Amino acid sequence: MAAPRGEFTSRFGFLMAASGSAVGLGNIWGFPTNAASNGGAAFLFTYLILAFALAYPALMAELIIGRYARANAVTALRTISSGNKTRLAALLVGFTGIVTVSFILSFYGIVSGWMIAFFFDPIARLLGASQLSAWLTADAVMRNSLFVVLFMLLTIYIISAGVKEGIEKWASRLMPSLIVILLLLIVYVLTLPGAMDGLRAYLIPDFSLIADPSLLVDAMGQAFFSLSLGVGTMLIYGSYISSKENLPTIGSLVALLDVGIAVLAGMLILPAMYVALANGVEIYDDAGGLIAGPGLIVSVLPSLFTTMGAIGVFVAIAFFALMTIASLTSSISMLEVPVAYAVEHHGLERRRAAILIGSIITVISLIIVFNFDPLFDLVVTVTTEVSQPLLGFAFCIFAAWIWQRSEVLEEIKQGCPEVESGIFWKIWPFYVKFICPVAILVVYFQ
Ligand code: TRP
Repeated sequence: MAAPRGEFTSRFGFLMAASGSAVGLGNIWGFPTNAASNGGAAFLFTYLILAFALAYPALMAELIIGRYARANAVTALRTISSGNKTRLAALLVGFTGIVTVSFILSFYGIVSGWMIAFFFDPIARLLGASQLSAWLTADAVMRNSLFVVLFMLLTIYIISAGVKEGIEKWASRLMPSLIVILLLLIVYVLTLPGAMDGLRAYLIPDFSLIADPSLLVDAMGQAFFSLSLGVGTMLIYGSYISSKENLPTIGSLVALLDVGIAVLAGMLILPAMYVALANGVEIYDDAGGLIAGPGLIVSVLPSLFTTMGAIGVFVAIAFFALMTIASLTSSISMLEVPVAYAVEHHGLERRRAAILIGSIITVISLIIVFNFDPLFDLVVTVTTEVSQPLLGFAFCIFAAWIWQRSEVLEEIKQGCPEVESGIFWKIWPFYVKFICPVAILVVYFQ
C-alpha cells in the first residue's frame, strides 16, 4: 500500500505553493513582453478581465475536483464520472494532462537551466574567471545539457521529499524571497535614466489594439499558462488542501498573487529595457518591435547589466536568482503531476517515482537540446497552444456537465458553509458550464 497522502499544513503553505506554481517564467518574462508588443496597458486591461472572468473559474474547477477526490488527475476525473464512456474520457483527459505537463516541463527545464547559467555568470566575473563567464553565456549544447540536468536534479530533490517537507517547505522559503528581490529590483531600476519611458510604454494603453483578435488569443493563452491550468497541476495541489479551507477565497488569493506579480514584473522588465536603450543597447528587433523572445533575457538584459558597472554584477545576480526561484517553484508543481499519479495509481514509492519520471523528462529535455531548432518551438506550440486549451475546456466540461452539482456544492460547503447564499455560487456554476467552454473554443479557433 502507498504511504498516506500528504497535505499542506497551513493556508500560507498552500498559498506559497500554488502561487509558486503560478508565478514563473510566464509572469516575469512572458507577461511583460506580451504586454509591450500588444499595446501596453490595453493588454494589461484585457488580461485582467480574462484572468478573473475565465481563468479564475477554471482554476476553481481544478481546485474543487482535486480536493473532493483527494487524488491525482486520472483518479479524480474518474471519481466524478458516472458511466463507462465518461470514465474512459476521464482516463484520456487525465492522462493527456500528465503527458502534456511532462513535455511542458521538458522545455521549461531547458530555459530554467539558462537562468542558472546566467546566475553563475556574474559570480564568475566577480572572481575574475572570464573564460568560465564566456562559457556560461554562450549558447552551446554542452552548457545547455549540463544546466538542464542541474535544474532537473533540484526539481527531483524537492519533489522526492514530499508535499510538506518538499513542496510546502521550499515554496514557503522561496516565494517570499522572490517578492523581496522583485521589489528591490523595481525600486532600483526605476531610479535609472530612461526607466520612465519604459513605464510609459507599459502603462499608457493603446486602445486601438484592444479589439485585435491576436491580443485576445495572446491574453488568454497567457492567463491559462500563467495559472498553470488544464493539466492537473492545480488539481493535484487542490487535493492537498485541508477540508477546512474556504476554496473560493483561497483560489481568488492565488489568482490575485499571480496577476499581481505579473503586473509588478512588467514594472521591472519594461523600464529595464528602456534603461538599456538609454545605455546604448539595442532593444528593437528587425521588424521594429521590442525584442521579446530569448534575446530579451539572455542578451538585452545581460548587456544592460554590464553597462551598469560594478553594481551591475549584483543586479545581475539578483535578477537571475529571481528567475531561477520563479522557475523552480513552477517546475516542482509540474513534476508533482506525474509523480502523484505513479505513486497513487501504480503504488511506486515517492522517491523512486520522482527519480524515475524526473529522469525520463530530463532525457526528453536533452533530446530537445540536441535537436533544438526542429524540436523546441514544436514542443512549446503543441503543448501550450494546442493541448493546454483543449484540456482546459475538458476540465470545465467535467466540472460542470459531468459532475453532480449537489456534490460540487457539498464539497465547497465543507470549508465555506455559507457559499450557497454568496456571489460565488450564483455566478461560478453558470460560468464553468457555458461561458468558459465557449470562450475557450472561440479563442482557440481564432
Ligand atoms: N504557471 C507557470 C508560469 O507562469 C508555469 C507552469 C507551472 C505551468 N505549472 C504549469 C504551465 C502547468 C502550464 C501547465 O511560468
